[in-house]
Amino acid sequence: VLLAGGQGTRLGVDGPKGAYNIGITRPLYIFEQQMKNLTDVVEECGAYIPLYVMTSEKNHGETVAFWQEHDMFGYPASEIKFFVQDMAPAVDFEGKIYLESKDYPALSPNGNGGWFSSMLRCDVVKIAKEAGIEWLNTFAVDNVLQRIADPVFVGATINSGCTVGAKVVKKNAPDERVGVICLKDNHPSIVEYYELTDELMNAKNEKGEPAYYFGVILNYLFRLDELISIAKDKMPLHIVEKKISYYDDALGKTVKPEKPNGYKFETLVLDMIQLSESCLPFEVVREKEFAPIKNPTGIDSVESARELCKACG
Ligand code: UTP
Repeated sequence: VLLAGGQGTRLGVDGPKGAYNIGITRPLYIFEQQMKNLTDVVEECGAYIPLYVMTSEKNHGETVAFWQEHDMFGYPASEIKFFVQDMAPAVDFEGKIYLESKDYPALSPNGNGGWFSSMLRCDVVKIAKEAGIEWLNTFAVDNVLQRIADPVFVGATINSGCTVGAKVVKKNAPDERVGVICLKDNHPSIVEYYELTDELMNAKNEKGEPAYYFGVILNYLFRLDELISIAKDKMPLHIVEKKISYYDDALGKTVKPEKPNGYKFETLVLDMIQLSESCLPFEVVREKEFAPIKNPTGIDSVESARELCKACG
């Protein structure tokens, strides 16, 4: 399940983030690279893996058109299903709802935690069940070194008897912007980076290493039957500062802010770990599997991802 409903506000491009060209000597779109990664496994196992792509109302039409223009990046169209995630209103710092036009609220995708409820609503769960699918591999659009349907990860998770597998990497700094895996009330859980207190961030274990050393890279395996049984549980809402475009009545036009100007309310896929029975944290080599693209330059950027891709050949 490819999560591509985000708005990529930090990258600052209009349209789907997956349509961003990260090529140096020739065009290479993020979606294209992801499909190359998936195709590695298809070639290895001699079978197509169904792909469900989550979009949002903001980018659905453009995303589908982009895939069609690129001939589904060589994947059979019959194996791909697009579905649209739910939306939620966004507010200013005082809590007043922003407007998108004079008589319509500014709605944003409701966070990547909305993926399964949206899949249920769009009947994609029914399609997956009918296809005999037992596990779903959920992953972010913006990690171009992502290993998708990684057979070793699938095998390790099944062998462990856990109902969830989470790929993790050693954090490169205490304040790296990744969610950290931990035990909360003796149960596997993940704390998102912007909710990690300084005390937890700098805590050390008896070996003197960071106590919360492992960050998730948004690549999970979930058992479909467990997802169905926890789907009715309430997910916590996270309040996130973001740049929100809004209609300014006085100016009579839409304003695109340069810096965060309000809050979005998001559910996060990482909260599903707390709802699940058990979780296998599965460490991978970050230089080989983690090249996130969040910003145009600097940390977790197009530049850093290009360097990591080059180093991986
Ligand atoms: P991020 O949390 O980095 O958000 O998404 P984003 O919207 O892409 O980027 P910023 O924060 O505005 O710069 C992590 C993953 O979750 C997906 C994104 O597409 C990405 O794959 N996502 C995020 C959704 O599918 N839906 C959402 O509502 C939010």
